[in-house]
Amino acid sequence: MSGRPHEASARACANIALAKYWGKSDVKRNLPAVPSISMTLDQLVTETRVRFDPSLDADNVRLDGRRASTEEAARVVAMLDRVRRQARLQTRARVSSHNHFPTAAGLASSASGFAALAAAASAAAGLRQSARRLSALARASSASAARSIFGGFVELPAGKRGDADLAARQLAPPGHWNLRLIVAQTATGPKKVGSTEGMERSRKTSPYYTTWIGQAPKWARTIKRAIKDRDLDALGLAMEQSTLAFHCCAITSTPSIVYWAPQTLTALDTVRGLRERGVSAWATMDAGPHVKTLCDASDAARVRQALDRTAGVTRTWVTKPGPGVEVHS
Ligand code: DP6
Repeated sequence: MSGRPHEASARACANIALAKYWGKSDVKRNLPAVPSISMTLDQLVTETRVRFDPSLDADNVRLDGRRASTEEAARVVAMLDRVRRQARLQTRARVSSHNHFPTAAGLASSASGFAALAAAASAAAGLRQSARRLSALARASSASAARSIFGGFVELPAGKRGDADLAARQLAPPGHWNLRLIVAQTATGPKKVGSTEGMERSRKTSPYYTTWIGQAPKWARTIKRAIKDRDLDALGLAMEQSTLAFHCCAITSTPSIVYWAPQTLTALDTVRGLRERGVSAWATMDAGPHVKTLCDASDAARVRQALDRTAGVTRTWVTKPGPGVEVHS
C-alpha cells in the first residue's frame, strides 16, 4: 500500500424511505425485490474512520465507543473484504463509527453506517470510486444504505437475480423541495425483529407478499412523479399506502411481526387529525414503532407541536433534506 492513503473518514446521513423496500429478489447478493425512493436526512449523521494497519492480525470494529458484537462485526468485515478484493489488499483494518443521533429515534443507523463505511474503506484502500460504485458497494451490505450515498431525493431500482452492480441514483438535490420530516419517538429499546430477518420472514410466509411485490412499483412511480411536481398530497397518500402495505406483510408473517406499539396508532391519529384541519401531513413507519411525519417546512412547527402533545410520544426531532456522503482523508 506504500504511497497510497491508508486512512480515511466519511460522513453519511440516514434516509427515510418514502416508497418502502421490503423483500429481496436475491438474498445472497442482497438485491431488493421492489423499487424504493427516499429522502436523505440532514443532522442524522454517522461518521466512520477506517485505517488499514499492517500490524493487525484481525479487523477491529468499534461502534459508538464500544466493541462491535460478533454479528455487527461480521457485516462490517464482509464489506471490508469486498473493498480488499477490489483493491487487491490483505491488510486488516481498524474501524471506528459514531452515530451523531439518538439510535433510540429508530432511524435506521445501518443506512448511514454502511454508506459511511463504504466510502471511508474505499478511500482508505486507495480506490477511486464513483458515487454509483460506492452505492452498489453499500447496497451489498444493506440495501437502504445504497440510497444514503446520495443527497436529497433518491431512487433504488428493484434488482434482478444476479445483478451485482445495482446502485441507487439521485432524483433531485436537497434544495429541490423544502420538506420537513418530524420523527416522533413512541417507545425506547431495540427493535424486536431486524429488517433483514423481518423481510425474509414476510417473503417466506406472508400470503400478501406476492401482492406487495405486484403493487409496490406503482406507489414508487407515483412518488417519483410527485417529487418532480412537488405534489405533497400525492406523495403523502402513496407513502402511507406503501407503509401500510409493507406492515401488512410483516403482520401477516408467521410468526407475526407487529412493529407498532399502541402509541404508534395514537400518533397516526394525530397526523390524520391534522389533515382533517387542512394540514398536508403524512405518516410513515419503518421496522419499529416510531412515527415519522412528512410536511411542508411552513407547517413543521404546528405538526411538531401536535405530536409533542400526543400521549405516548416521548420526543420529537425535525429533519430536512440532507447531503450525500462526504469523504475526508
Ligand atoms: C423498513 O436496508 O435495513 O427501513 O438490505 O437487509 O440491510 P437490508 O435491509 P434494510 O431494510 C430497510 C427496510 C425499511 C424500508 C426502507 O428503508 O426502504
